[in-house]
Amino acid sequence: MKRVHVVLLFLCFSLSSCEGRDGKHRKNQLTKKHELPSAPAVTQENLVDEKCLLNKFTHRSCSKVFCQPWERCVDGTCTCKLPYQCPKNGTPVCSTNGRSYPTYCHQKSFECLRPGTKFLNNGTCTTKGGFSVTLNYGNVDSGGIVKVKLVGQDKEMFICKNSWGMVEANVACFDLGFPQGALHTQARFYYPEDLRMNSTECLQVHCRGFETTLAECTFSKRRVLGYQDLASVLCYTPDADLLPREPFQCVNGKHIPPERACDGVNDCGDQSDELCCKGCQHGSFLCKSGVCIPNQHKCNGEVDCITGEDEVGCEESHDRRIHATTRSRTSQDGLLRTGAAHPEVQEEIEILTADMDTERKRIKSLLPKISCGVKRPVHTRRKRIVGGKPAQAGDFPWQVAIKDENKINCGGIYIGGCWVLTAAHCVRPSKAHHYQIWTSLIDWIKPNSEVIVERVERVIVHEAYNGTTYQNDIALIEMKKHFNQKECMFSNSIPACVPWSPFLFQPKDTCIISGWGREKGNQKVYSLRWGEVNLLSNCSQFYPNRFYEKEMVCAGTADGSIDACKGDSGGPLVCVNANNVTYVWGIVSWGENCGQPEFPGIYTKVANYFDWISYHVGRALISQYNV
Ligand SMILES: *[C@@H]1O[C@H](CO)[C@@H](O)[C@H](O)[C@H]1NC(C)=O
Ligand SMILES: *[C@@H]1O[C@H](CO)[C@@H](O)[C@H](O)[C@H]1NC(C)=O
Ligand SMILES: *[C@@H]1O[C@H](CO)[C@@H](O)[C@H](O)[C@H]1NC(C)=O
Ligand SMILES: *[C@@H]1O[C@H](CO)[C@@H](O)[C@H](O)[C@H]1NC(C)=O
Ligand SMILES: *[C@@H]1O[C@H](CO)[C@@H](O)[C@H](O)[C@H]1NC(C)=O
Repeated sequence: MKRVHVVLLFLCFSLSSCEGRDGKHRKNQLTKKHELPSAPAVTQENLVDEKCLLNKFTHRSCSKVFCQPWERCVDGTCTCKLPYQCPKNGTPVCSTNGRSYPTYCHQKSFECLRPGTKFLNNGTCTTKGGFSVTLNYGNVDSGGIVKVKLVGQDKEMFICKNSWGMVEANVACFDLGFPQGALHTQARFYYPEDLRMNSTECLQVHCRGFETTLAECTFSKRRVLGYQDLASVLCYTPDADLLPREPFQCVNGKHIPPERACDGVNDCGDQSDELCCKGCQHGSFLCKSGVCIPNQHKCNGEVDCITGEDEVGCEESHDRRIHATTRSRTSQDGLLRTGAAHPEVQEEIEILTADMDTERKRIKSLLPKISCGVKRPVHTRRKRIVGGKPAQAGDFPWQVAIKDENKINCGGIYIGGCWVLTAAHCVRPSKAHHYQIWTSLIDWIKPNSEVIVERVERVIVHEAYNGTTYQNDIALIEMKKHFNQKECMFSNSIPACVPWSPFLFQPKDTCIISGWGREKGNQKVYSLRWGEVNLLSNCSQFYPNRFYEKEMVCAGTADGSIDACKGDSGGPLVCVNANNVTYVWGIVSWGENCGQPEFPGIYTKVANYFDWISYHVGRALISQYNV
């Protein structure tokens, strides 16, 4: 079995804070193994994570999905932005209240604040008439064949069945005033025989699913020789709910057959059937965050998984995508002629409305971005270092040392601006002027030339920090700005990103701890060291009644042999996502007997404190998405 040496970094702030645990401060040779609990096999029946469902996640839960560009994430929920917070750059759109808005984002933000007004058309308002959707020939009011009148077109038209899916059906029902969307993509209806003969022309529609009216979806006109089937829908009403056996209950109250959960299709209308998945069916794609996305959203140029992996390794499928876009490209007269399935059938497609989905993506690209968690490229090729090895300049550009008078007692993590994150047990607000923050430090006996030493303006300790249980062991240090400067400037420091969701990383992910930990036999270490650890699930088994899952994470090594040493509290546990962006996932907090090896290390779960941190440092400094 592979032997990995890892430095576990649990230096208690002072000897006294270690006492009461066990009082011993020596290195222990590890003999016991940490068994990684293995996940049960995923089968059709247990695709859904029942425990997760209790959180009632929907398309507005920003710990699971990205918010729309006209929303921002506050306390885990996508909330409406104010229109002025939208990017200014864009072209006007017209709303059903007869008003023109400077951009699509402005209109959607206004609609988000005052539901009822909806998108009408791209461009300023004209007198070209309205948009309407109707259901026809159905045997109930909530169902029938869908007819649409587009802005600027003088007649109503049917929709072709071949372009109609649950996403479009839900939007049609939202538009018609059924807030839970569609029950079925097909309704029972009386189908007039001559209609069947006449339908050689119909509208193709494509929606993304977040639209509140079909007017936001993209329409084109399809003409073929010979008739085609037309789209119908049955919208959801509580009395139409036929309660399948053991139904899946959506957060919006609708019931769907359980086999339609975790298939990448938003059947619920609020996406709640796709957000708590252990696996995905019908070829849909499982994000590491437990969300199923449609397969066509993988490698489509837009990141859908909050964990980013749906747009990684996309070279191969790129060709396929190009191919797909040429199909919808129009020729010079705006018509696309293709030989359809039967070469003798002539098909013509004419694009009729603006592509607001592309506009949404464009707006998204204009949102303010912060830069964090990405190291400068390393020029020299280096061999991969196994854990517990010395770090080199630039390896951990977010690592700082906190010097208290003459000693380096704790580590910290630079998160941008003038701000450093550390453990509450490392610092005291009253001692702020005693501390120094050393950035870019590697060896504190022979400090390297890049080191910058900063003085401390103030220390903020979490108000619910409990020194007995180590709950909320988190603190912020604001560094002093230099005379005459508006910002804190560190040429060699790069902030680590602050995680906003507890679903960004999972048990078994490999992460990195770093610090000036003590060596074997309590020898002092002067040089920054690092080691790899795995995130572990359910650490209550190691620390009964002392591990608080919401506030703490635990990490150790899976394959047994660990050389445990004491290290710096307050330092980083960082994890790197699929796009090589580094997040500060934990702050070194405590461990049994300051690093008794059979007990994994416990870290403050930073994702749980995103709102606390952003309250103090300002949302714009750490919000990567939708400030
Ligand atoms: C179908 O076409 C015929 C002849 O053009 C017309 O009389 C009839 O009203 C049409 N039916 C429908 C439902 O549009
Ligand atoms: C909307 O219309 C404007 C002209 O008013 C045009 O420049 C713009 O490209 C259109 N947007 C989309 C998404 O088609
Ligand atoms: C810390 O937690 C313990 C155990 O829950 C509790 O008894 C104690 O009152 C708490 N202390 C503070 C300062 O909140
Ligand atoms: C976590 O560990 C505790 C204690 O060993 C055990 O009772 C519990 O069932 C475990 N939970 C899970 C989800 O594995
Ligand atoms: C991330 O970094 C690794 C190692 O440096 C590299 O192999 C991989 O291609 C990178 N991935 C992305 C998405 O940039």
